[in-house]
Amino acid sequence: MSADTTREQYPFTDGPPPCGAHNRPAIDLTKTEAIIERTGKSRDLCIKILQELQAVYGYLPAEALHYVTEHTAISRRQIYGVATFYDQFRFTPVGRHLIRVCHGTACHVNGANRISQAVEDALRIKNKETTENGLFTLETVACLGCCSLAPAMMIDDTTYGRLTPDEARKILNKFSAEQKIYNAP
Ligand code: FES
Repeated sequence: MSADTTREQYPFTDGPPPCGAHNRPAIDLTKTEAIIERTGKSRDLCIKILQELQAVYGYLPAEALHYVTEHTAISRRQIYGVATFYDQFRFTPVGRHLIRVCHGTACHVNGANRISQAVEDALRIKNKETTENGLFTLETVACLGCCSLAPAMMIDDTTYGRLTPDEARKILNKFSAEQKIYNAP
């Protein structure tokens, strides 16, 4: 199987399971069925259906995507193309805490890549992934609206600015210690 084929199957049930997918309860496909009934089945409704799926489930479950390909004119290739093109879509549920690292212009020129790398290394996940224990989801975003604090990140509703990689790691450690949920290195 080529790397491209694997990537294309990623969101679907016969692809490799995404991080944190193990032990996830089965999803209620009657909700997917209702969305299709309400929205329609034509190819040009792909974005609309994906938006509705994400609104209902909080992400795009592989089982629901498979159901859509079986019951509409939308192909898995089309779903994959749309879902990976638009940042709004995710293939895994959001963890209990959402970490958003800003990669807007101000943050980018002030070292956002190094902040992301520090968070990724500490949590052992990549952008848009959730830790195996379901506690943290990492996302890069375009701008958090606090450019004077660049580089910045948010954990849930709290903003942290003028970060260095070391400070980002310390914040994760402190946050985790306060929550008693995670032992960052
Ligand atoms: S560019 Fe990062 S907060 Fe605006």
